[in-house]
Order: sequence, then C-alpha cells, then structure tokens
Amino acid sequence: MSNNLLAGKRGIIFGALDEKSIAWKVAERCVEEGAMITLTNAPVALRMGEIQKLGKKLNSEVIPADATSEEDLEKLIGESMVVLDGKLDFVLHAIGMSLNVRKKKDYTDLKYEWMQKTFDISAISFHKLMQQLYKKDAMNEWGSILALSYIAAQRTFPDYSEMAESKALLESFARSFGYHFAEKANVRVNTISQSPTVTTAGSGVKGFDEFFDYADKMSPLGNASAEACADYCVTMFSDLTRMVTMQNLYHDGGFSNMGMSPKLLE
Ligand SMILES: NC(=O)c1ccc[n+]([C@@H]2O[C@H](COP(=O)([O-])OP(=O)(O)OC[C@H]3O[C@@H](n4cnc5c(N)ncnc54)[C@H](O)[C@@H]3O)[C@@H](O)[C@H]2O)c1
Repeated sequence: MSNNLLAGKRGIIFGALDEKSIAWKVAERCVEEGAMITLTNAPVALRMGEIQKLGKKLNSEVIPADATSEEDLEKLIGESMVVLDGKLDFVLHAIGMSLNVRKKKDYTDLKYEWMQKTFDISAISFHKLMQQLYKKDAMNEWGSILALSYIAAQRTFPDYSEMAESKALLESFARSFGYHFAEKANVRVNTISQSPTVTTAGSGVKGFDEFFDYADKMSPLGNASAEACADYCVTMFSDLTRMVTMQNLYHDGGFSNMGMSPKLLE
C-alpha cells in the first residue's frame, strides 16, 4: 500500500545483496512510496548479479562503490545526483561485515588487522559517506540519513564479537555527524537498531537460528521483519519525522526493554 510518503524524493540505497537483504526491502518500499533511487553495492557483490534484477524491477541505476573508498563514494554521489537530476533527500547505509566472525576467530583471539578492516567496512564507511555528502553539499534541506545497527552496541552478545564495537562506533558517528548536518542544512542522521533478521550478514553469526528464536520469544511483538524495517525507514525518510535526529531508534518488537519473558520459560 502506498501513501506517497516519498513523492518526488531522491535517495541512495546501499547494501542490497539479494532478496533477503534489509536494503532490498527498503529500496522496494521507497520506490513504492514515490521516490527515485540509485542502488549501490561493492563491485564484488554486483558480480552476483541479483542487484541488477532489483535495478531493472525498480527502474533504478546500479552504481558500484566500495564503501571504504572515498573516491568510489565521491563518484557514486556525483553520478547519483546526475541520474536523479538533483540533490539527495535520503541515504540508507546498510553495510556490515566482520572478517574475524567470518573466519571464526574467538573474541579472545582476534586478529587486529581484520578488526580494522571490519571497522572500516561496517562503521568508518558511514563517516566517509557522510563526509563526502557534506563536502559535496549533496543533501537537500530536511534530508534524512540512516544506518542500520544492532543492540550489541549496548549489551553483550558474545557471538556478535567485534561487530558489537563496530555498531557502537556507527551509532556514535550518527550522533556526532548529526550535529554537523543539522547545523549545515537541517539534515537528520539516525540509526535504526533492528531485530535479528534472516539475511546473509545476519545468518553468518554463530548460533543465529537459536538466537533468532530466543529474541522472538523475548520480544512481546516478536522479531521485527525486514519488511517492517523497510516501513520504518520510509517514515524516517519522510517529512513526518523531521525533528528526529542523532538517535538510535530501536525497531525490535520491544526486545530492548524486556528483562524476562515467561514465553522463554515454557
Ligand atoms: N540481519 C540482522 O540480523 C541484522 C540485525 C541488525 C542490524 N543489521 C544490519 O543491517 C545491515 C544490512 O545487513 P543485512 O542483514 O541486510 O545483510 P546483507 O548481507 O544482505 O547486507 C550486507 C551488505 O553489506 C554489503 N557490503 C559489505 N562490504 C561492503 C563494502 N566494502 N562496500 C559496500 N557494501 C558492502 C554487502 O555486499 C551486503 O549487501 C547491516 O549493517 C547489518 O549489520 C542486520
């Protein structure tokens, strides 16, 4: 159902890898709500070819960019403004990857070279993106920038490993840059802290399936789906949330405020 919440708005969506990706659902919902978007992902992800299908379906240009490369980001933003014929109203950062998790290293035995790469991909890329948007004056007044986070930034979830610190850094960048973007052009910057969701990145965490069930029982509304996350992103990109900035917004069915759920004891 469309309410034309994003009619005439222009945006960039990072991170749609396949149909399960949260960014995939966000892209579909944004276009449904009247937005024009460009899609982007790392060149290696583009080679999988799935994102091209989404591009065709949504009539959106797919522009490769490694989010750790300032040069790629600068080109992406420039090209997006040409293709979309104007400055941007919204940007979604939906990027996460941990080398130590992928290579099954224990938290007490992490390789720091990999940790730095993890931080670069999962968190510093958000700062690099915002810095390029800022320098190129690419955001329209009252624009909205979002990144996706996880509650391991605040609480300990042992198997989430160094991604916990990545998310803490990501959320901090949202607060700090949120100040500068508000001062510059009334642009808001927030993170959405999403429930565990079955995607390539999510399922890569050890014990994901058991944890997914645990979180579902712990959350009074159940786990929030990728589709529900897309709905929330749309509201955050719309003009209905113009005074919300520098926040980490839980989108988790109530998980973050629970202590114990009787459902788990049954
Ligand atoms: N799935 C979950 O349980 C969950 C929960 C909370 C938050 N999140 C966050 O949601 C976001 C999206 O993840 P997802 O779950 O949809 O998984 P996903 O695997 O579909 O998306 C992750 C994306 O990051 C991209 N990426 C990796 N390295 C990149 C680089 N160098 N440059 C550009 N893109 C790069 C991948 O190609 C992929 O498209 C991530 O930030 C993730 O941490 C996920």
